[in-house]
Amino acid sequence: MKNLLISAISALAIGTGFFAGPALASGGGESHVENVDFSFEGAFGTFDQQQLRRGFQVYREVCSACHGLKFVPFRTLADEGGPMMDPAWVRAYAAEFTMVDKETGEDRPGKETDHFPTVTGEGMGPDLSLMAKARAGFHGPYGLGLNQLFRGMGGPEYIYSILTGYTGEEKEEAGSFFYGNHTFPGGWIAMPPPLSEDLIEYEDGTPATVEQMAKDISAFLMWTAEPKLEARKRWGFVAVIMLVLLSSLLYLTNKKLWAPHKGKHVDL
Ligand code: HEC
Repeated sequence: MKNLLISAISALAIGTGFFAGPALASGGGESHVENVDFSFEGAFGTFDQQQLRRGFQVYREVCSACHGLKFVPFRTLADEGGPMMDPAWVRAYAAEFTMVDKETGEDRPGKETDHFPTVTGEGMGPDLSLMAKARAGFHGPYGLGLNQLFRGMGGPEYIYSILTGYTGEEKEEAGSFFYGNHTFPGGWIAMPPPLSEDLIEYEDGTPATVEQMAKDISAFLMWTAEPKLEARKRWGFVAVIMLVLLSSLLYLTNKKLWAPHKGKHVDL
């Protein structure tokens, strides 16, 4: 029993410390993902509303030129736990888009119940709605999932690292341009560096450094990928408390039930 415990503990120690450390930092020697501290990490982490608003501004003014958010309904921008934009503002914003009415087949101004448009065409990028969950920044230790438990899957970190990971190199191949990037698998990405110092002017006055914009848009994309993150964590916590209570009750009942019979040995 004691031996079993010792090996279990050392397995855990190896799992968290050894593999999660140096092996991860290098990302397998292929792509480099920075660890970023986000407000929504950990068991009680929540989204930072101001950060979501800034991230949405980066999306609106920069990324939306080439990337859609087809799974995100406009109205959710006003939801609690999200950027909490003013509902009247959201309505006006949605109306700036032209949508094809599903019933009549005709063009009409967007409504808050519509989704963000899909963006396709030459030079356009993939849809970003679920990107923060589709990519993992942290890998291993395989099978244990401990690293993921403590630091998350690293999707937002991956996006942050792509945006800040440009090497400045450029090459042309068969008429297309590629840009050197420390994070993108293979080292070359078809997306030109979308961010530069002071590219936008933040409505809340935050200085728009590349790192700041990259962090804010990554947080915003985590929200688009998992808008109910906070509710899920809250219910997870309630469930754990209930289980602990239930187990202690069961333990005490069990003890009480058997107490009269304990210690009475019958010699045969
Ligand atoms: C000029 C168009 C353009 C702009 C602006 C742009 N992107 Fe991209 N993006 C692309 C293209 C093209 C790709 C596909 C790259 C490839 O596959 O090599 C891409 C790919 C990506 C990827 C996917 C990487 C992967 O693992 O597949 C992410 C994440 C991304 N962009 C985020 C952003 C964010 C965030 C912004 C705004 C700050 C942004 N992009 C702005 C064109 C753009």
